[in-house]
Amino acid sequence: INHVVIMAGGIGSRFWPMSTTEHPKQFIDVLGCGRTLLQLTVERFEGIVPAENIWVVTSKRYKSLVQAQLPTISESHILLEPCMRNTAPCIAYVSWKIKKNYPNANVVVTPSDHIVTDVSEFKRVIIASLDFVTRSEAIVTLGMKVLRPETGYGYIAAASEEGEIRRVKAFKEKPDLETAKKYLQAGNYYWNAGLFIWNVKTIEMAFRFYQPKIAEIFDKIEISMDTISEQMDVDKIFPSCPSISIDYAIMEKADDIYVFPADFGWSDLGTWGSLHNMLSQDSDNNACVGSNLSLIESKGCIIHMPENKKVVIQGLNGYIVAEKDNTLLICRLEDEQRIKEFSK
Ligand code: GDD
Ligand code: MG
Repeated sequence: INHVVIMAGGIGSRFWPMSTTEHPKQFIDVLGCGRTLLQLTVERFEGIVPAENIWVVTSKRYKSLVQAQLPTISESHILLEPCMRNTAPCIAYVSWKIKKNYPNANVVVTPSDHIVTDVSEFKRVIIASLDFVTRSEAIVTLGMKVLRPETGYGYIAAASEEGEIRRVKAFKEKPDLETAKKYLQAGNYYWNAGLFIWNVKTIEMAFRFYQPKIAEIFDKIEISMDTISEQMDVDKIFPSCPSISIDYAIMEKADDIYVFPADFGWSDLGTWGSLHNMLSQDSDNNACVGSNLSLIESKGCIIHMPENKKVVIQGLNGYIVAEKDNTLLICRLEDEQRIKEFSK
């Protein structure tokens, strides 16, 4: 049986003011296509798993957002964290839960803030990876072509050049710029797409081996279908988890990792710049979301405005202009990494 886990508890701080702690980017229609990133994530798995095999792990405060946006997911499949502890505890919790109910499940873990343009190729890659983990105790990662020395991604070195799914020699999470430049030149490195495919038994064993403290914490929680008493346990014990991502906690350490180099039009919508690259641009490289915008003598801007807001911009080059509720941001695109500071 196949299951999908959607991680939807991040806050998207570099995407402010569109993304806020109260309403992070995964719950927003970033592309202006009528569906939020979370809804697009679920859609991508249509035909791979039935709705009753989809799990969402998020923070308690986003429960009603998830329920409103995903009415087909039952309440018992929405797991709620009392506080943010990054992705390793998130994955451990849902893995313990799935293992208890479906001890032999194959699982795809996916972020909720990505865009995929070639969904049929995405499905082919996911189905082939699920098939692979049915026959092995492998952890499968998806490798994206390295395009620039990006320091915000994990890097995967493939051991061989043969086969669709290859053994991994090394996994390095978020290298510094110098190291990232070396990886770009080396040629056998891929970006980690942040999606993982494994059998639930494999990841449970990996936690026991590499993160015994986290495993111990979830062994203490009485996993049940009675969500109220389970939630009380989780609220009490979950905060004692260390805050660590799955990449540092398991991927950098584990041996039996594989990579599927793939190309399905992937992008991580982490920053305004990534959205600027993603959207279609006019002949002056402006990308706009909004229904009543007029850009005059302006170049290389990303404009994100509420529906029906009339906006006229003249003579602006290389800027982010974004409005949400009562907040307006006007910031140089090249300074986008500093938005975290500006939003405080
Ligand atoms: N439930 C829950 N709880 N979800 C979380 C938490 C948490 O505490 N923290 C983050 N998430 C969710 C985010 O909402 C997002 O969908 C996903 O987990 C990944 O977290 P990010 O914080 O966006 O990770 P990242 O982008 O810095 O790095 C990861 O993704 C890159 C590709 O996008 C890593 O896996 C990198 O190796 C990878 O290259
Ligand atoms: Mg991300």
